[in-house]
Amino acid sequence: MKITAFVSLAAAVLAFVEASPMKIHPGHPVALTRNPNYKPNAKAQIAKLNRRYPQLQILAGSTGSVPLTDVSPDLEYYGSVNIGTPAQVFKLDFDTGSSDIWFPSSTCTTSACKSHTRFNSAKSSTYQKDGRSWSISYGDGSSASGILGSDMVSVGGISVRQTIGLATTESSQFGSSPEDGLFGLGFDTIESVSGVKTFLDNAIAAGALAQPVISVFLPSERLFNGQGGEYLFGGIDKSKYTGSLTYVPVSQEGYWQIAIDDAGYNGQSLGQSSQGIVDTGTTLIIVGDDAAQAIHENISGATNDPNNGWLVPCSLSSSTDTLSFTLAGTAFNVAVADLAYQDLGDGSGNCVSGVQGGQDGLWILGDVFIKNNYCVFSQTSSPSIGIAPLAV
Ligand SMILES: *[C@@H]1O[C@H](CO)[C@@H](O)[C@H](O)[C@H]1NC(C)=O
Repeated sequence: MKITAFVSLAAAVLAFVEASPMKIHPGHPVALTRNPNYKPNAKAQIAKLNRRYPQLQILAGSTGSVPLTDVSPDLEYYGSVNIGTPAQVFKLDFDTGSSDIWFPSSTCTTSACKSHTRFNSAKSSTYQKDGRSWSISYGDGSSASGILGSDMVSVGGISVRQTIGLATTESSQFGSSPEDGLFGLGFDTIESVSGVKTFLDNAIAAGALAQPVISVFLPSERLFNGQGGEYLFGGIDKSKYTGSLTYVPVSQEGYWQIAIDDAGYNGQSLGQSSQGIVDTGTTLIIVGDDAAQAIHENISGATNDPNNGWLVPCSLSSSTDTLSFTLAGTAFNVAVADLAYQDLGDGSGNCVSGVQGGQDGLWILGDVFIKNNYCVFSQTSSPSIGIAPLAV
């Protein structure tokens, strides 16, 4: 009985190795260990296998936690990522709205690059050349380009070989950015260079994750003083949300796209619906023009300013109203207090609204949504996003 448990575990591990594209050690027998004191403990057994056969590496699916820094005022959130051997450490913006992983190359000498940590491939013993050129541009007009390479990428202790973009040019927008680059968490279909697999693809294929998920807790300054943010690779932290997760099916793989069936204000339907994406890399919620109008019609003092977009009174920060988005039959709230996003600073008492228009056809549920709702990006064969209200 005890031995059976161990044998089947070992068999499962070997079956995985046979199936894996990272197959390194085919047919290597795993010796039976008849230990009279054996107690079933899968983690210990896998750890033992890893010590015995270091070539197999990361066979134990595990979880990796990446703590986040909140850039005020909840503008963006970045975490630490180790690249290469020995590790060179980068601050990267985790972004479910794009799929490339990139940062400046040591060969980039523009001021935007020089103000950040740059990757020196010559100093990494695990770096491999790729040779393909690479470029990316984002919705905000920023861009970067350079070459592709491959190296070990490690987040929260989850380590896989990964194709990376080494920027040799980057647009000025990145010069002032507190992070060095981006860590895309979208699907491989929107990789800039076709055929490149994402970190999540590679981590799942390597069996590195206990579950094929990335769970996101973005803390607001309002509720959490910006503290405690986390991307949890391979697991779900039940302490971060209340009730149960509603799994919203992904309608198209590329971005994490879903159907938004309605928007509501204090529980009243606004009769607005659209396809949308859940995007950790976008600060605000961006909806269609009609939906933005309908939402702000419920907020006294809201105005649409030609230069600054939708503005709301900053006093809204003490509002107890709720905005909601209905996903897979469940309404998820956004505190209207979070719509008082940032004081214009001109003495008018007006704040830039956390909800803006201009995205007819594909709304963006950005950080203003995610800092109210825990999100589990689940890349099973039928991908979905598990969502539940944050525990506050
Ligand atoms: C909220 O907005 C909707 C859509 O524009 C409108 O029909 C409704 O009257 C508004 N409710 C309040 C209380 O302003």
